Amino acid sequence: MKTAIYPGSFDPVHNGHIDVIERAAKLCDRIIVAVAENHAKSELFSMEERVELIREAASHIAGLEVRSFTGLLVNFVRQERAEAVIRGLRAVSDFEYEFQMALMNRSLDENLETIFLVPSQENTYLSSRIVKEVARFGGDIAGFVPSVVADALAAKLK
Ligand code: PNS
Repeated sequence: MKTAIYPGSFDPVHNGHIDVIERAAKLCDRIIVAVAENHAKSELFSMEERVELIREAASHIAGLEVRSFTGLLVNFVRQERAEAVIRGLRAVSDFEYEFQMALMNRSLDENLETIFLVPSQENTYLSSRIVKEVARFGGDIAGFVPSVVADALAAKLK
């Protein structure tokens, strides 16, 4: 039974995240999407809202678990007895940050492996930050996020 954890802020979840979850679900027996409390970022959606939006947007993925966590990711990974952490890699610009995180996590726990998955090309330019910015200025985000997220953004920003 191979368990992988897909951590992130998911503020909010977008189509690129869903794409990565679908790919991960084909590779692992059990996927836990782990929503982080990130004090360094001022989040638009609360922890509960972010968890609920992922649950609704990814309800088509059988057996998917969505949880929140606080503190170090390595501790959550150990607690769940997971084998690996999944991260999406969109472009070269992601690489330095992702590499730094993967190596820091491994130095905190030498057994922790990070697996990078590449989303499909039409999702490579998506980020939660850019989706929120487009939504904030009234742009059409329907093609970039699941419909529950588009509705939630419209309600939050009105
Ligand atoms: O979607 P994000 O914001 O890029 O996700 C970053 C996240 C949440 C995966 C990362 O900040 C994290 O793992 N936070 C938990 C605290 C931690 O373990 N920090 C050290 C890892 S370098």
